[in-house]
Amino acid sequence: MAERVLITGGAGFIGSAVANRLAATGKEIWVLDDLSFGVRELAPVPDERFLRIDIRDQRSVEDAIARIAPAQVLHLAAVHFIPYCNAHPVEAADININGTIHVLDACAIVGDVRQVFVASTAAVYPIANEAMSEEHPTGPLDIYGTTKLATERFASDFALRTGIATIVGRFFNAFGPNETNPHLIPEIQRQVRAGQRVLRLGNLEPKRDFIHTSDMANAMDALLGAGLRGYHVFNIGRGIEYSVREVVEAFERQLGEPLRIEVEEKRVRKVERLHLLADVGKLKRATGWEPQWSIDEGIATLLNEPLLAWKGEHA
Ligand SMILES: NC(=O)c1ccc[n+]([C@@H]2O[C@H](COP(=O)([O-])OP(=O)(O)OC[C@H]3O[C@@H](n4cnc5c(N)ncnc54)[C@H](O)[C@@H]3O)[C@@H](O)[C@H]2O)c1
Repeated sequence: MAERVLITGGAGFIGSAVANRLAATGKEIWVLDDLSFGVRELAPVPDERFLRIDIRDQRSVEDAIARIAPAQVLHLAAVHFIPYCNAHPVEAADININGTIHVLDACAIVGDVRQVFVASTAAVYPIANEAMSEEHPTGPLDIYGTTKLATERFASDFALRTGIATIVGRFFNAFGPNETNPHLIPEIQRQVRAGQRVLRLGNLEPKRDFIHTSDMANAMDALLGAGLRGYHVFNIGRGIEYSVREVVEAFERQLGEPLRIEVEEKRVRKVERLHLLADVGKLKRATGWEPQWSIDEGIATLLNEPLLAWKGEHA
């Protein structure tokens, strides 16, 4: 019988990529998502395996996990657009912290779960100029990073009290098709596809480690298959950082046209780190994983991809 996998947030940007990846390996995928940011059509499951549930609703989460009895649970449901979390700190804490507790507690009760993966973020790291390894002390700068650091602590406590193998993935900056939030790359994609050749952007100097969602999905699959026991934290990034200017240059190369940039004051973030780079040595040593997608290859496909309409008030 195919192994059952439940993915919370599986109608989202990264959740749908990993759902597709695991489905291709023969697993039976179930998705739990409230569709607040995600899109039903992105979740590659039939209706009977799609559960529209808010993870803040403890009873519904418990009932769903008891009914599905999954062997693996990948918990990706969260709010993560940083300006949204800053504007709605109580909601962000409720979903990212309490929602995670509900999912983990349900996994502890049902008895079938043998492995849990919890999505965290590079935003748990403090400002630093070097590549971040998992041993680097944490120090989030914002509400989002703080909620995710709490998520990690609850995941570690869960692993200790249940003995269930638990992996935390600290995701760096994902890019690829079906982006659900107006991050930098889909914003440039939107402006370029609308015919703009003068881009209106915010801070230009910050560098980020952009990793394609397909590489992320492969990394998660590899970690789930690595036979890990206990509690482990892994960075999931590409190990290369690009500034906003360099991302625009990659768009120029793929378009074959020059792009000008105008800095728009209202887009400039007041608190901004200049670097956020992953040391992915631990991930590579544990799994043999290697990224396949370069920034240019990823951007080339985005120029032909339709964009999703953003949901919620950040639209
Ligand atoms: N995109 C990135 O670059 C990035 C970087 C670091 C970490 N992450 C983490 O990766 C995970 C997935 O992010 P994503 O980029 O795919 O974002 P996303 O918004 O596309 O995915 C999150 C999904 O969770 C669902 N969700 C939100 N609140 C919910 C609730 N209360 N109940 C049930 N479902 C709910 C949304 O509808 C959405 O489908 C998140 O945990 C996020 O914090 C993402």
